[in-house]
Amino acid sequence: MIHGVGSHEAGSRADRRYLDAAATAPLRPEARAAMIEVLDAGPANPSSVHQAGHRAQQTVEAARAAIASALGARPGELVLTSGGTEANNLAILGLALAAPRGRHLVTTPIEHPSVLESCRFLERVHGFEVSVVPVDEHGSVDPAAVGAVLRDDTTLVSVGLANAEVGTVQALPEIAAEARARGALVHTDAVQAAASLPVSFGGAGLSAAAWPGAGIDAMTVASHKFGGPQGAGALLVRAQLRIEPLLHGGGQESGRRSGTENVAAIAGFAAAVTASAREIGTRALALARSRDELVERVLAEVPGARLTGHPTERLPGHASFVMASASGESLLVALDAAGFAVSSGSACAAGKDEPSPALLAMGIAPELAQTAVRFTLASPLDGDDVERVVSVLRSEIRSR
Ligand SMILES: Cc1ncc(COP(=O)(O)O)c(C=O)c1O
Repeated sequence: MIHGVGSHEAGSRADRRYLDAAATAPLRPEARAAMIEVLDAGPANPSSVHQAGHRAQQTVEAARAAIASALGARPGELVLTSGGTEANNLAILGLALAAPRGRHLVTTPIEHPSVLESCRFLERVHGFEVSVVPVDEHGSVDPAAVGAVLRDDTTLVSVGLANAEVGTVQALPEIAAEARARGALVHTDAVQAAASLPVSFGGAGLSAAAWPGAGIDAMTVASHKFGGPQGAGALLVRAQLRIEPLLHGGGQESGRRSGTENVAAIAGFAAAVTASAREIGTRALALARSRDELVERVLAEVPGARLTGHPTERLPGHASFVMASASGESLLVALDAAGFAVSSGSACAAGKDEPSPALLAMGIAPELAQTAVRFTLASPLDGDDVERVVSVLRSEIRSR
């Protein structure tokens, strides 16, 4: 049986439920078809002057226009990258090194490692100072706390729109207003948020219902969270801003990112974002209903379970818990054996023994942080699924 809204459950199997969409979403059929069309069209480098090259270039430009339109941006504002990690590196290194007002950066302790490590690199190699603004127990950043650390030499503020581990959505417009009032640039990692909520960068085509991106200078998105292929993404960056490239070479992407374009992945990325934009509102409502049911049942029936992240300001398909008197790893194994693919937090933290730095930053004790379990829905759960998840969690806790 296939569960879900729309076509986004492609790739799910009858006997397994994939509840790890924040790690990577199921490939959308539209994305697969678009990639196959490019792959079957024959060899073509978008930089070649012959007809095949021209065709590939048109494919890239059509994809750029489609991605821009779905995200409320102008085509010229997109730099296509190899994914979210590269786009975050490009945002932070590229903006900080191109035109620094000074050598001060502001971020938070719950950012993706590609943000935090890029800031640390600037600190280590280029003598920047980094202010890490604390978060509260829900993982929320107080805009006033950002305002309090801003300085005349602050070049860039980077705060993710939504956290991957606990799903908390930040008050980005207020944070951006603080930064802009002091003349600092604002970057947001919207890799998780843009795939689950209507997000607009604020350029042409801004939809009134969308999250108001106005005031944001740069925004990161990644194809595979929308149901596109892995290894593609984009940095949306205001056209007038100078950005220092990370990759030097043939001058693709208007000199902002050299390297022959991954045409098939870019086409798949565009097809996925377009399909996502069409259904994002209804999908968010359906996921939130299902997520709420799961959260209510787990909190009511699993002793010692506690929701992590903000109780309401969170991504619609995101339910994350810590479980007193359980071991996170054994919960994941038990859920996997029962047919549920879940994770302990962010995919990049999985497999590591240390507790998640993001959960520690929310004041969760290290032993408790190690019991983290994250369910991220690609499609709504049915009643049986919820029943089975709750029963696996209960029996794991009882058996300890
Ligand atoms: C919030 C966030 N930022 C950045 C990334 C990295 O994106 P990619 O996997 O495309 O490199 C991820 C991936 O999980 C993420 O969740």
